[in-house]
Amino acid sequence: MTVAYSPSHGLGEEQSIWFKLTPLLNQENPMQVLMALSDKYGGVIPINLKNQRIVLLSEPAHAERVLVSNADNYTKYFDGLRPIFGNSMITIDGALWQKIRTPQQAAFHPNMFEEYFPYLMSAIDSKMARWAEIAETGETVEMVEETWTLAAEMVCKALFDREMPFNPHFVFQQVKTYTDVMNHKSIRLKNQRGELVEMTAEETAKAMEVWHSIPDTVMGANVLEHREKTLLKMLEAAEADPDFPEFDHRQVIDEMKQYLWAGTETTALTLAWSLYLLSQHPEAMERIRAEAHAVCGDADPEWNQVQQLAYTRQVIQETMRLFPPIWALIRIAAGDDDIQGHKIKAGDKVVILTYIAHHSPKYWDDPEKFDPERFAPERAKKRVKYSYLPFAAGKRACIGGALSQIENTLALVQLLRRFTPEYAGPVPAKIHATVTFCPKGGLPFRIRPR
Ligand code: HEM
Repeated sequence: MTVAYSPSHGLGEEQSIWFKLTPLLNQENPMQVLMALSDKYGGVIPINLKNQRIVLLSEPAHAERVLVSNADNYTKYFDGLRPIFGNSMITIDGALWQKIRTPQQAAFHPNMFEEYFPYLMSAIDSKMARWAEIAETGETVEMVEETWTLAAEMVCKALFDREMPFNPHFVFQQVKTYTDVMNHKSIRLKNQRGELVEMTAEETAKAMEVWHSIPDTVMGANVLEHREKTLLKMLEAAEADPDFPEFDHRQVIDEMKQYLWAGTETTALTLAWSLYLLSQHPEAMERIRAEAHAVCGDADPEWNQVQQLAYTRQVIQETMRLFPPIWALIRIAAGDDDIQGHKIKAGDKVVILTYIAHHSPKYWDDPEKFDPERFAPERAKKRVKYSYLPFAAGKRACIGGALSQIENTLALVQLLRRFTPEYAGPVPAKIHATVTFCPKGGLPFRIRPR
């Protein structure tokens, strides 16, 4: 299979916003640098480069303007990620985006979740079987890889009605090779200055080749139950619709890629960061176990009990506040705008730093404290609108946010009832903020039987 684009084109290239932000993000504590700058400049940080202006925004009112009330003036910026997501809905704008999203929306309606429930549980069972073996050997695992492989199996089984037909550990490592912005910078430096680098252009091309083969592999895999209403069936129906010529086979493939990465990496990061936080707060881990026991006794959860696992859900919400998997939302201004007295010009790239509002003492008491009780219903009602945006807001908000919370609630309850994952890395964990909010070098854990 040939790879149709330059393997080094992407996230870390000079024209990419991620490359331009590298000096800010490559710090020991990148978020503290951004928070200090935001504080100093009243929530708006304009960065003037030779031929590009980037405006970093961090107030809830800024997010409301860009994502909701003047959303039509802002288009999505996704260039560097096209090799991962193709031309799927997450990357496109306008009438075509709406047309492409509409036939998929039904797969994410809460009334579908009951149908997904047994497949989510089955993926968790596979993970528990693996962890039982790991607990025997005592080996150390990388938690984001562990949780990604779980999330990928959930998507294959619940949304596509397929067994997971690939080695998820191998695929995860391949895609990570590509999405690591700093590695791309290294490629560029190597090409220009002959520096020693860890990853070659050939390795990136190989990573992409593996990734591009995945949707076909999934489609060709064993069908689990021949269910009538799956996301994959909805994609195929859109392809078969003669009134929808834009939705061709290529579109089906790209939509699948999008779900297998956008719908897995974020969910996996949330679960991995939750386990990290719980390892530092054993009382919260015990509370999850006690809640599970109170709701389900010693049995596995039933679908109608999931809503009662309220504290577990709050832990997940608090994790996404402290470690928002998507910590920055990027848009390009189509026309001029005024955001609270700050001029935005057509062509400016605006970056909404959701991380900053999530950590601001203006909106949260003692914001660095891990306190899942903030998300108890009474307190949550008092929250300032748009101060908490793990799934963005407005018409381009995440399609799978509610599903991800069911996935992670079930995973936390089941995994913690059987195991005690012990974090074995530095505290606090170091941050690697690229497109997603990753732990630098991963999150090493040992798995102990409970
Ligand atoms: C904790 C888990 C998740 C988080 C934090 C998350 C976060 C986000 C955010 C912030 C966006 C908007 C990006 C932007 O506007 O620039 C987004 C979009 C999207 N997410 Fe998620 N997501 C999660 C889980 C999922 C899941 C489980 C799926 C599907 C299986 C999914 C599918 C999508 C898709 C398709 C879009 C694009 C929607 C559009 O542009 O119309 N996400 N997600």
